[in-house]
Amino acid sequence: MEVFKEIFPLREHLKTIRAAHKTIGFVPTMGALHEGHMALVKNSLEENDFTICSVYVNPTQFNNASDLKNYPRELEKDLQLLKNKGCDAVFAPSDNIIYPEKTAITIDFGSLANRLEGAFRPGHFNGVATIVSKLFHIVEPDQAYFGQKDLQQFLIIKQLVEDLSFQIKLRCVEIVREDDGLARSSRNKRLSEKERDKAVVLHQALLKARDLLLTGKSVGDCKSEVSQLFSEPSVKLEYFEVVDANSLKVITNISEPKNVAICVAAFVGEVRLIDNIIFSKEL
Ligand code: PAJ
Repeated sequence: MEVFKEIFPLREHLKTIRAAHKTIGFVPTMGALHEGHMALVKNSLEENDFTICSVYVNPTQFNNASDLKNYPRELEKDLQLLKNKGCDAVFAPSDNIIYPEKTAITIDFGSLANRLEGAFRPGHFNGVATIVSKLFHIVEPDQAYFGQKDLQQFLIIKQLVEDLSFQIKLRCVEIVREDDGLARSSRNKRLSEKERDKAVVLHQALLKARDLLLTGKSVGDCKSEVSQLFSEPSVKLEYFEVVDANSLKVITNISEPKNVAICVAAFVGEVRLIDNIIFSKEL
């Protein structure tokens, strides 16, 4: 597995891969890799001749300095995991390679970026779109892999690819969970043992809400019933919304859209976690 820290040698290498008519699958990550990331790598390995993963903690998408500072960084361990999995190459640049100068442009996605995560993390999706655009231009993959775990991020990137005519097929991989249902996340490493046990409430709330909605409860009743699950002082709910899974618009009636998503964000202690579930009323 080749590891690239700089752009030029990576581009040269990828040219030889393309010249050999091999397809390139790309998995962008911020590292501290876990089974969720590995599911994206697995899909890419199965569907492409060559798989490249990026590991880069992108400062421009963090709206909170302590979250950026405390974000886990474990490159050596990540490289070992990727090598064992059969990944072909890794791009692990430093900040001065990616941002030699502060970027001047901003990318505004309108209402899609102002809801849910966007409402609580101003500037976050501009940072995501900036880094993903840069990485797409550097790697020029045939297919790129993202997780449903970050549903809004996936939809933003889908919009980016459509609006800016990137010739890249996007793949969305379903959420990988721990045995008790907690969605795998690099931030889970920062939970204490007690907090780790409490964190399962996010997934439990999603399942409960889905079941209530499917038995005919109104969105309002369902939200107030589920909010009782978040009474622990160490768990602070930021949002719990029932939305159209494609537009992320809040809905009041689950028979309106074909696919419904329930999205949640909460602090467990100091750690901010997100999760979601997608279903259709025909389930
Ligand atoms: P990161 O949080 O490292 O996630 C990288 C990819 O892994 C994302 O597409 C995310 O949705 C996916 N992922 C994370 N946890 C998952 C899980 N439990 N199951 C399935 N997929 C999961 O998302 C980012 O990095 C960054 O914003 C990035 C796109 C790399 C831009 O900096």
